Amino acid sequence: MKWEGGTVLLNGGEKAVLEENREDELLRLIDLKKIPRHIAIIMDGNGRWAVERGLPRREGHRQGVETVRETVRNCNNLDIEVLTLFAFSTENWQRPKWEVNYLMSLPEKYFNQDLLELIENNIQVSLIGDRNGLPRRVQKAVLDGVEATRENTGMILNFAMNYGSRAEILRAVNNITADASRNKIKGKIDENTFSGYLYTAGMPDPDLLIRTSGEMRISNFLLWQLAYSELWFTDIYWPDFNKIHLLEAICDYQKRKRRFGKIKS
Ligand code: FPP
Repeated sequence: MKWEGGTVLLNGGEKAVLEENREDELLRLIDLKKIPRHIAIIMDGNGRWAVERGLPRREGHRQGVETVRETVRNCNNLDIEVLTLFAFSTENWQRPKWEVNYLMSLPEKYFNQDLLELIENNIQVSLIGDRNGLPRRVQKAVLDGVEATRENTGMILNFAMNYGSRAEILRAVNNITADASRNKIKGKIDENTFSGYLYTAGMPDPDLLIRTSGEMRISNFLLWQLAYSELWFTDIYWPDFNKIHLLEAICDYQKRKRRFGKIKS
C-alpha cells in the first residue's frame, strides 16, 4: 500500500483481497431467495472506456464481450431466470461503417468461444429484435446458438440485436390486427394477450434494469416490459462492470419496495 497525493494506492494483490471481501459482504447481504427473475442490461460506455485509455473504440467493444462472458456466468450462478442484453439497437446502424462491422463480428466470435460452455451450463440462447435486418453471418451465429441450446432448461440468455422497442410494439399491433381479422383472437385484447405478441413472449418482465456509463435513459429498450421494473444506474463503463457491481445492483433492488401501483408491496 502506498500514499500518493492524499490517496491510497493499492497493488494488485491488495485490490483483489478488498474485492473478495466486498463480494463476501454483498453475498451475505443478499437474500438468495429473492433474486430478480429477469435482469435486463443496457451495456453502455464501451467507446468512452476505450477513448479514456487512448485506445481505439473497438477495444472497448472487445473488452465489453469479456464483460458479457463474466456477466452471463455470474447471472447463471445466481440462478437468474432471464438475462437480456442490449447488444445492438436499431439506431446503432447510424454509427460509422467500420464500427457497425466490428459490432457485427462479435456474436460469431462470442459463440465460437462460448457455445460449449453455454450448452454445458444448461443456458438457452434467444434472439430478440428484427433478425431479418441482420447480416446473414450474424443471424447464423446467433441462431445456431439458439438451436444448439433449444433443449436446455436453465437461464434464458436473450440477445437484443437490431432491436427497438417501438418497432417491437408496432409489430405486435400489426400481428394482433392480422390475427383478429382471421378470427384467431376471441374477445378484447388484454395485457397478457399483448405481451404474448412481443419478442419476449412467455418470459417474465424484467424485475431489474441496469444501465452502465452514467446515462439515465431507457433508449427505446423494452418499453412495455419495463413498466414496473426497478431501475439501477451506475457511472461504471460496461467494460469495467463486474460481479461486485452486479451484486450491488441486486442488493439495492432488494431494498426497494415494489408496490406495482398499490399502497403495500
Ligand atoms: C454501447 O457503448 C455499446 C454498444 C452499442 C454495443 C454493446 C455490445 C457489446 C458490449 C458486445 C455484445 C456482445 C455480443 C456477444 C453480441 P458505446 O459504444 O455507445 O459507448 P459510448 O457511449 O461510450 O460511446
